[in-house]
Amino acid sequence: MARKLAFINYKGGVGKTSLIVNTAACLARMGQRVLLCDFDTQSNASIWLLKLDRWNPINTTGQGAVFSIFDPGQQRVRDIILRDVVTDKAGGCPLPGLDLLPTSFNLVDLESEYTGDPHRPAYVIFQEQLAEVEANYDFILFDCPPNILRASQCGIFCANEIYVPANPDALSLIGFTLLVEKLSRFHQLSASFRKAVMGPPAQVHGIIFNAIKTGVDIEVPKMRMQLRLNQFRAAKRTAKEARIFDAFVRDAMVVRRAVALGLPVNLLGQEAAGDNVLRDYERVAEELLRQVPAL
Ligand SMILES: Nc1ncnc2c1ncn2[C@@H]1O[C@H](COP(=O)(O)OP(=O)(O)OP(=O)(O)O)[C@@H](O)[C@H]1O
Ligand SMILES: [Mg+2]
Repeated sequence: MARKLAFINYKGGVGKTSLIVNTAACLARMGQRVLLCDFDTQSNASIWLLKLDRWNPINTTGQGAVFSIFDPGQQRVRDIILRDVVTDKAGGCPLPGLDLLPTSFNLVDLESEYTGDPHRPAYVIFQEQLAEVEANYDFILFDCPPNILRASQCGIFCANEIYVPANPDALSLIGFTLLVEKLSRFHQLSASFRKAVMGPPAQVHGIIFNAIKTGVDIEVPKMRMQLRLNQFRAAKRTAKEARIFDAFVRDAMVVRRAVALGLPVNLLGQEAAGDNVLRDYERVAEELLRQVPAL
C-alpha cells in the first residue's frame, strides 16, 4: 500500500514545495514509484515541473488540473495524472517514476466559489478517486499551502503521515503549533467521513529543517522545537514516533536555480554535482524510507 505523506506548516515560505519536489525526485531516483499531488493554489510545484509551456494550457483551459475533478467534475484523478512528468529537451524522460497531479490557479475557487454537495465535501471526492490509483505507487506526496482550507484538506484527509518543513526561527515554531491545533479540529470535523480502510487520521511524524545557512547554529531553535514536540507527543497530539529529522537541508543557490530551470536538483547535472544540498535531499529521502510508521 502506498505511504501517503502531506508536507505542511502554517508558516508560508519555509520551503515546503522545494523540499517535497526535491525529495520526491530523490525517491524516484531510488526506484520508488511516486505521485506528487499539488494542492497549492499558487501552483508552484506544477509550474516548476511542467515549465510554463506545458503548464499554461492546463491553466488557461482548466482541463487536466485537479480542480476539474470537482468542477465541472467530469475528469477523474486517474485521467489527469501526468506520468513520468519530467522531460528533457529531447522529449526524453530523465526521471521515470515521478508522476504529478497538476494544479492551476483556479484551485483557489475551491475555497469560495465551489459549493458542491454539502454531504460530499471535496476531500471525500478526492479520497474516493485517489483510491483508484493508490496501488500504482509506493509514495503519494501532497504539497499543501500554509493553511487547512479545502485544498489542503484533500491531502490531509488522505495522508497517513504529516511532515513539517521548518526554518530555524520562532515563526516556524508558531506555524507548527498552529498546525497541530488546526489538525485536530479538522480531524474532528471530518471523522464521520472516514472509512476504516483509510486508517487513523494523519498526525505529525516528523519535522524537517530547511534552508540552513552556513555558520548559523541551529541548536537553540532546534531545542525549542524539540520541547514543543515533546509536549505535543506526551499529550498524544502527534504520532508517538514523531521526531526532528537528523537530515536537514542547507541553504543553497542551486535550489533557487533548479526552479528557474524547471528541474529538481538531482537533474541539474554538473551544476549540482558535488553540491552538498543534493546529498541533503537524498538524506531526507533515506530517512523517510526508514521512518516506517508503527502499526
Ligand atoms: N534549501 C534552500 N536553499 C535556498 N533557497 C531555498 C531553499 N529552500 C527553499 N528555498 C527558496 O525559498 C523560497 C520559498 O520556498 P518554497 O516555495 O519551497 O516555500 P513554501 O513553503 O512552499 O512557500 P509557500 O508557503 O508559499 O507555499 C523559494 O524562493 C525557494 O527557492
Ligand atoms: Mg509552496
